[in-house]
Amino acid sequence: MSTDGLTYAGRLSDFASGTCHRVRAGDRTLVLIRNGDGVYALDNRCPHMGFPLDRGSVDDGILTCH
Ligand code: FES
Repeated sequence: MSTDGLTYAGRLSDFASGTCHRVRAGDRTLVLIRNGDGVYALDNRCPHMGFPLDRGSVDDGILTCH
């Protein structure tokens, strides 16, 4: 759902710490990463070969491409 340029992705409690989630925001696909109380959004394509980052892993706040 998108209103006024914002996209609702879910409640904080929907995202377990250390997990990646793919979301659509307009014409872009993002990966949301929950790390502790923070949630970070990145383009879902890794800059190396464009692999989907939501298939990566998060350990100690570090996202590793699959
Ligand atoms: S495919 Fe190499 S870092 Fe993602």
